[in-house]
Amino acid sequence: MTVLINGKLISQQVIDETAKEVSTFVEDFGLAPGLAVVLVGEDPASQVYVRNKVKRAEEVGIRSLEYKLPATSSQEALDDLIQTLNADSTVHGILVQLPLPDHLNEEAVLLAIDPAKDVDGFHPLNVGALACGDASLVPCTPMGCMIMLAHVHPDLSGKQAVVIGRSNIVGKPMAALLLQANCTVTVVHSRTKNIESICSQADIVVAAIGRPEMVKASWIKPGATVIDVGINAIERDGKRKLVGDVDFADVEPVASAITPVPGGVGPMTIACLMKNTLQAAKNQVL
Ligand code: GUN
Repeated sequence: MTVLINGKLISQQVIDETAKEVSTFVEDFGLAPGLAVVLVGEDPASQVYVRNKVKRAEEVGIRSLEYKLPATSSQEALDDLIQTLNADSTVHGILVQLPLPDHLNEEAVLLAIDPAKDVDGFHPLNVGALACGDASLVPCTPMGCMIMLAHVHPDLSGKQAVVIGRSNIVGKPMAALLLQANCTVTVVHSRTKNIESICSQADIVVAAIGRPEMVKASWIKPGATVIDVGINAIERDGKRKLVGDVDFADVEPVASAITPVPGGVGPMTIACLMKNTLQAAKNQVL
């Protein structure tokens, strides 16, 4: 029987634990952790993500501030807002929702955020700390994947892990975390040759490529664990549907454990953002 790794359930556990710790934090320090979420423009998917982040923050007792800037905002206007948030001691976490409109320099924006408030873990200083194995703020989606993996593999030591995709947001930090957990890690991507045969040797496959249902049963070693980071909107039989990067119906019978889409990695990302905001607040007040 294949285990379905239930992201809804596991994320709720993370949320509940965080809420408890947030209330202790409020008792100890007399203020709630504060999270500023910045959205530039009106990308519909980003609007949904930001709304969910703000809603979850309120649920766990984190004070959330939402900043909506027009799509035409200048680099300077965005930088001014970040500097104001950096200087505000009631704001412990700053998140700028990506992607930004094309005319804005993403790298400069991420660099402007105070690394201590960088709850996404995207600032080069935090990226470097992760590479060194001593990060305090780890990117939320890979952190969520690691928590899910811990539910089926309490010890990952010596496992062969293949990460499909090399993005800064998921693929690269995911590889760093698996390496830190003593996995033997291979990162495959769009230019990799024999991707299917490399994947089929893995005990753990993490798919983060953004291509609907690309990973098939023939890519998966029988008994492997499959984590599907993809969220792709497709149309099937005239209906809009969300699917992952893994062909779930094909792969599920082969895997020993697999995450569904939706209800897998998705809810974990936001739960881990709450965890990071609390962590950032603790780092700043202690
Ligand atoms: N866009 C897609 N994923 C993310 C994320 O984890 N953080 C931010 N800030 N933007 C994103």
